[in-house]
Amino acid sequence: MTEPWWRQAVVYQVYLRSFADSDGDGVGDLEGLRERLDYLRRLGVDGIWLNPCYPSPGADHGYDVSDYMDIDPLYGGLSAWDRFLGDAHAHGLKVLMDLVPNHCSVEHPWFRAALAGDREMRDRFIFRRQPNNWQSIFGGPAWTQVDDEWYLHSFAPEQPDFNWRNPAVAEYFEQVLRFWFDRGVDGIRIDVAHMMYKHAELLDWPGTGHNPHMSNQPEVHDVLRRWRRIADGYARDLTLVGEIWVPTVDDLALFLRPDELPQAFYFDLLVCPWDAGRFRDSITRGLSTAGGTWTLANHDVHRSVSRYGLLTRTGGPATRPRGEVDVALGVRRARAAALLTLALPGSVYLYQGEEAGLPEVLDLPDSARQDPTFHRSGPADYGRDGCRVPLPWTSTGPSFGFSRSPSPWLPQPAWFADYAIEDQIGHPDSTWELHRQALTLRRDFTGPLEWLSTSRDDVIAFRRGPHTVLTVFGPTPYPTPQATPLLASTPCPPNEVPGNTTAWFVG
Ligand code: GLC
Repeated sequence: MTEPWWRQAVVYQVYLRSFADSDGDGVGDLEGLRERLDYLRRLGVDGIWLNPCYPSPGADHGYDVSDYMDIDPLYGGLSAWDRFLGDAHAHGLKVLMDLVPNHCSVEHPWFRAALAGDREMRDRFIFRRQPNNWQSIFGGPAWTQVDDEWYLHSFAPEQPDFNWRNPAVAEYFEQVLRFWFDRGVDGIRIDVAHMMYKHAELLDWPGTGHNPHMSNQPEVHDVLRRWRRIADGYARDLTLVGEIWVPTVDDLALFLRPDELPQAFYFDLLVCPWDAGRFRDSITRGLSTAGGTWTLANHDVHRSVSRYGLLTRTGGPATRPRGEVDVALGVRRARAAALLTLALPGSVYLYQGEEAGLPEVLDLPDSARQDPTFHRSGPADYGRDGCRVPLPWTSTGPSFGFSRSPSPWLPQPAWFADYAIEDQIGHPDSTWELHRQALTLRRDFTGPLEWLSTSRDDVIAFRRGPHTVLTVFGPTPYPTPQATPLLASTPCPPNEVPGNTTAWFVG
């Protein structure tokens, strides 16, 4: 039996607003993406995960959906999407949509009817006369009052949570799933796939931080099992990849049981600090219990360059740590981390801009920031705008080649010129070329991972078939193994792997 396409795939995450703008309105769109499918082919990825592009008022840039079975005119509408899908497939690229089942937009017709007083519609959401004490994940209370009732929103007030205990909600999402499968997608990324059910009695949560009553309830597994059956009913291989933030890898493993999700992002590695022992442990846990769906960045976290280049952490969550960043060191380590991850058994989700080694834009003016996280949690967290700044394609031009408009939806810093993608293509030392080569060579990597012992705590090494992979986490060089060098994240002098470097060998 051949493996399903997604098992070893590299899937490129497109944050559409920030990828490429074809019509000059400062916001990326489907035609801009379609025009760059050759680019993605050349990079060597296998598929695309498209962040939500359904009709939405944009309170959380598309994660507040007002119509699940259409595409927002801002991105070109459904006809542009069909054209994009056809061309993506013609380029041999798979396409994943992003489904948001925990909540919709206040503009969704059901919620509008609920607000107008329709009781049946109110029961599709979580309305109560008395709110409990839950806090929203974006900061502030998780309840908003409308009349003598309040409704629950785990995120922004513009994102009311569905009541998954109402069968109409479950039926609706099965219809949505079939709609996109029938239209030709190759899989679905499921937004906060652990959150659909809340504690049946909505109990107060006396603690601070992670609130276990708001997510990871046993009933959610039944939903995912039904969706898996739907996906398996199609003649082609479809994947369902869960975005699941649960306290332990063992919790995560429950979502990956044989009749549930084929894939779930392994965030344990994403939040791992740059440390040999921690990386090795995390990879071992991930391989044994979480199936190997690796990712080092996405549209919610600080870019890998800025996380690995952090000198001292002064605050912020693990996904968006704050403190002084050494960008050169960050680039070097992010390249090493990418090469390490791309050598592992399993699939890799690669966030746009990571292939160019883009750092997080940490110094956006507050007035430009749009993320509700920033506005609701105050100065404790910059929020997620800094990883969403439109891509620099060229080092000159009105918005570094992103748009005809000189003012994209988020301002790009002048230093983005140094990371221009088109200037990196064909340059042997560039981060882009490193990714392109790694994506080609990784296709020859097969078989399970076998750890090798090393003589230092800051060095890890493993074999996969004829390939050896070695990462030096500390600053001091380490002797090369007896094998032929294949690729390295920093230029290697003869016989040694420099510090903060991953090197691949064969033979
Ligand atoms: C997920 C998305 C994030 C969004 C949130 C609410 O975590 O990745 O971008 O804000 O869900 O939908």
